[in-house]
Parts: sequence; C-alpha cells; structure tokens
Amino acid sequence: MTLSRKRSDELFLRATKVVPGGIYGHLAPAGGLPKVFPHYAESAEGCRFRDVDGNDWLDFMCGYGAILLGHRDPEVEEAAERQRREGSVLNQPTARMVELAEAMVERIDFAEWAVFAKNGSDVTTWATRVAREHTGRRFVLKAKGAYHGVDAWCDPGFGGRIPEDRKFVGEFKWNDLDGLRSLAKEHEDDVAAIVLTPYHHAAFGPSEMPADGFWAGVEELCREKGIILVLDDVRAGSRLDDGGSHRLFGFTPDVACYSKALGNGYAISACVGREDLRRGARDVFLTGSCWNDAVAMTAAMKCLDLARERNVVAKLDTLGVRLSKGLRDAGAKHGFSFSLTGPPAMPFPWFDGDENLYLLQQFCELCALEGVFFHPHHNWFLCGAHEEATIDQAVEAASVAFSKLTAEKA
Ligand SMILES: Cc1ncc(COP(=O)(O)O)c(C=O)c1O
Repeated sequence: MTLSRKRSDELFLRATKVVPGGIYGHLAPAGGLPKVFPHYAESAEGCRFRDVDGNDWLDFMCGYGAILLGHRDPEVEEAAERQRREGSVLNQPTARMVELAEAMVERIDFAEWAVFAKNGSDVTTWATRVAREHTGRRFVLKAKGAYHGVDAWCDPGFGGRIPEDRKFVGEFKWNDLDGLRSLAKEHEDDVAAIVLTPYHHAAFGPSEMPADGFWAGVEELCREKGIILVLDDVRAGSRLDDGGSHRLFGFTPDVACYSKALGNGYAISACVGREDLRRGARDVFLTGSCWNDAVAMTAAMKCLDLARERNVVAKLDTLGVRLSKGLRDAGAKHGFSFSLTGPPAMPFPWFDGDENLYLLQQFCELCALEGVFFHPHHNWFLCGAHEEATIDQAVEAASVAFSKLTAEKA
C-alpha cells in the first residue's frame, strides 16, 4: 500500500514548536522507523488502529502491551462507562479499590496486599523503597539493559542525573548467577533488593529466557541474605500467566509490580507483596493526584475477569506459536534465518547475524508497506482480538516483505 503521511508530518512539525523533541521517550521517531511509522494515531478497535492520515494497520504493538483483550473491548468499555457516570476521581477511594485489591490478592499466590498507582515506574521505584525500608539497607541490584522506568535510579536516558542517583545501584549480566553473587558479596549486608523482569526483554536485542537454575539461584541468594526479590512484571504481567509471570518460571518473589495489560488501556499500575512487607508498604508514602481513579480500577477488574473467562493467556500462546512458525517458514523459503525470540505472546524478532538490526529494520519497513505494524527495536505484543486469520494475514504480508528483501539482496 502507499502510506499517506501528510497530516502526521504536519502534526509533528507543529509539535516540535510546543513539545520538546516533538514526541519524547521511546515513541520519538528516531526510536522506530521514521519513514514509514505514523507519528500520531487516530482510533483503534480490536487488533487494528488507524493513523491520522487514515492508514489502517494490523497492530502487533497493542499500545506497547497496554492492550490485552483488544482495543476498546466492548465489555471493558461498558463497565468503565458505568463507573464514569458515578465519577472517577473523588475525595476518597471508592469500593472499587478494595475490590480490585481483593481480586489481585486472590489471583496472585504469594500476595497478601496490593496498592495502586498509574504507571509502571511509580510502583517499581516505590517497591525499591519498600525493600529499603524493610531491610534498612541501601543497594538495589538489577540486570544490565533491563528497563524499569523513567526514574533516575534506572532510566536509560542521559540527561538530568547526578552520580549519586546511582550510587547504590549495582548491575549484573542477565543469567549470570556468579556475577550476581559476587555483586551481592561486594555489598555484603547492604543489599536491600534484587529487581528483575521475569525474563530479559531488553530493547534492541533478542529476548533471553532464564537459564536452567537461574531463578532458583536468585531465590536462594535472596533467602540466604535477606534480600527482597522484586519482580518487575510491568510488561509481561497478565500475558504469560494470569496469576503472574513468576508462575510460568517457577519462583516466588517477595513483591511484584504490574501495569501495562492490567487495565486494557486504562492507566493503572499495582504493586503486591508478602505479609512481612506490609509494614514497609504502609510506611513508604504513596499517593498521586488521580491514583484513586475508579474508572481505571473498574476497567482493571473487568479485564482480569475477562482474561480468565476467555482464556486469553492460552490463546495468545497458541497464536504466538502460529506467528512464530509462519514467519520462520516464510523467512526460510526466501533464504533468511529468521526467528521470534522470547515468549510467543510477546516475541522479539531476530535475523541470525544481524547484530546492527539493519535487516530487521528493512523487514519491518517492508511489512509496514503491507499494513502490518511490526517494530524492529521492541518486543511485539499479541492481544485477545488477534485471530488465526489475522496471524495468517501478517504472515502473508511478511512473505511479501521477505521476497522484496531477497530482491534487494540480489
Ligand atoms: C519492565 C518494565 N518495567 C517498568 C516499566 C515502566 O512502566 P511505565 O512506562 O508505565 O512507567 C516498563 C515500561 O515499558 C517496563 O516494560
């Protein structure tokens, strides 16, 4: 298809005058494919969205994971609308907050309490402070390249930091248990928390699953040294297991953070934890202007129920396997060693040997011209509105892209 981009470009030019950088963060044009990705979206439904120039896209980013069931899921929207009529941000929390906390404690096996905020960063940072409060220690250990949010202890940018922001943060290589053990030893008796995602889903590289024994080793170290194990399940939560991603990998964190898929597009995040962290959770101050938003809490509760009812986790896994096989076979047919890494429900694409992502960018650009929104730098997300037919449509588009890539190579 020919992509029209007149309005997108016009809006971006206007934005550069009133918004620093035009679009900031990972959505800045340079973070994607500036020649083909639209800068602004107009509307979305199910697994498709329309950009401001009227181009329709088959969506494999799903609001960077915030959409679990599908854009504008009718049942979530109806529940949210009912609550909207009652009010969203009142002076007091509503009963929705208690009900949502109960629902999360019921679903997440180790959780005895839950708190809510708006973004993943709100709760990952708060969780490190709860760990510090609980242990009376200073250091937080994390995996290199792992994203935990926009705060100064962990953000991937360059600006606005002072060296002290990271004075008590240590990094080790994902899956390197010996490296983690020696880092913990270096700061003996001063490590408050180890913060980890359930598997390593760094941007700009293939996803890495936990090696055999990795999680058992992390857990053992935490128990032995009294370190709080914080699971950052902000990106993967609800997509891999509806009781939390730790269940898929067979370990038990002390605290876990969720956001993205929790509210099917409504802004909400949560942190849950074990009983003995309740005092720390009570003592570390937590609030925000709209954090008691009853509409988002209603949407989250409905989303949790529907995901279970519709067996979304199993569906996304099955569809992800179909996508993975379809793309691998289509690539092989055209002479490419292409695969999807990470869990099928949220895979990161990879061409063997394409360390600088050059082929991947060309491939995603060609898929964009076929109307499929595949990102070259970030893991993709499937949602409950994808069906076998939409997966097959994406594979067909990818076949066209692979054949054009072959022609370019020749
Ligand atoms: C693993 C992980 N942790 C934390 C965050 C931060 O969440 P938010 O962008 O909602 O602040 C993200 C966001 O992408 C994430 O993927």
